[in-house]
Amino acid sequence: MQDFSTRLIVWQKVHGRHDLPWQNTRDPYAIWVSEIMLQQTQVAAVIGYYQKFMQRFPTVASLAAASQEEVLQYWSGLGYYSRARNLHKAAGIIMEEHAGDFPQDVEAIQALPGIGRSTAAAIASFAFDQVKAILDGNVKRVFARHFLVEGWPGLPKVENKLWLLAEALLPETDMVAYTQGLMDLGATLCTRSKPKCMSCPLQHSCAAFAQGKVASLPTSKPRKATPEKHTTMLIVRSGNEVMLEKRASTGIWGGLWSFPEMMADESPETVSKCRLGLEVEVAPPLALLTHAFTHFKLHISPQPVWAAAKSLQAAEPNYIWLDIEDAIGAALPTPVRKILLDLKSKKQPELPF
Ligand code: ADE
Ligand code: SF4
Repeated sequence: MQDFSTRLIVWQKVHGRHDLPWQNTRDPYAIWVSEIMLQQTQVAAVIGYYQKFMQRFPTVASLAAASQEEVLQYWSGLGYYSRARNLHKAAGIIMEEHAGDFPQDVEAIQALPGIGRSTAAAIASFAFDQVKAILDGNVKRVFARHFLVEGWPGLPKVENKLWLLAEALLPETDMVAYTQGLMDLGATLCTRSKPKCMSCPLQHSCAAFAQGKVASLPTSKPRKATPEKHTTMLIVRSGNEVMLEKRASTGIWGGLWSFPEMMADESPETVSKCRLGLEVEVAPPLALLTHAFTHFKLHISPQPVWAAAKSLQAAEPNYIWLDIEDAIGAALPTPVRKILLDLKSKKQPELPF
């Protein structure tokens, strides 16, 4: 435990970041503004905004005296604008309830709008050298890996475990370097992808590294089971030709040529007769096919039928008869092409007509 913080502090002093615009100050206001900007935005994107903001609003009093409109102008482009509204509101509270002095008590800091437990601790440690634990997304990743904490960190049970660790690991002194060290390690070495474990000061005690589990930690959010859908495709054939239907221009496979589809409870004869105007003989179904989309799985049951003649009820522009070879070259969804390739390679069954 002692070893963890000592190594991190030594590493931060040598290899950490030292020249960010919000470092090398003990002004709680300046630190507060930076922590709020950095909550949901990368360092590189924050720097320019931070400098302009601090030039225009150098003190709590100047921020409190400005209009919300102007504060939002200076935030424009950073996103998550409730951060700016809360910052402005909190400046007013500091003027009214704390006589313009930024509160030092971590509970009073956390009571301000827009400041959670981790941000309050970051301000208290950077500005007042208080021994308080931070736990942002990067730090959760470092702890989850180093101490092999499994489970998605968004789960209260897992998050509680990480908070307990964060508190148990705190050093007695050097909180500025320690807190910055956690942030720097998470941002520069213990990154989400391709962490640089070979340069890591904690490698010798890192459980994930020892067990080869770095890539699988922190555990990702459990995925909802992908929904599954079923469809039956009518493979209407006549001689060596097959019938394709053009799909509506919107939706999945919009504008592509596909097989006519039917519900599982419809009969192929009825659908052929009523929708396609064809007398057909029903053949045995082909093997079930599954196509995985990003958001669902589609199970396709291909149902071949043989048409006595190619006639359609009307000269429908949405239907076309094509030689199987030619059909394969059309604009088709992948599973439709698979079915056609399968038909092509198979020996023709006995024609019923
Ligand atoms: N992210 C949050 N706080 C930070 C800080 N002080 N330095 C760099 N990145 C941070
Ligand atoms: Fe992260 Fe690798 Fe260091 Fe472990 S050894 S703390 S996984 S960078």
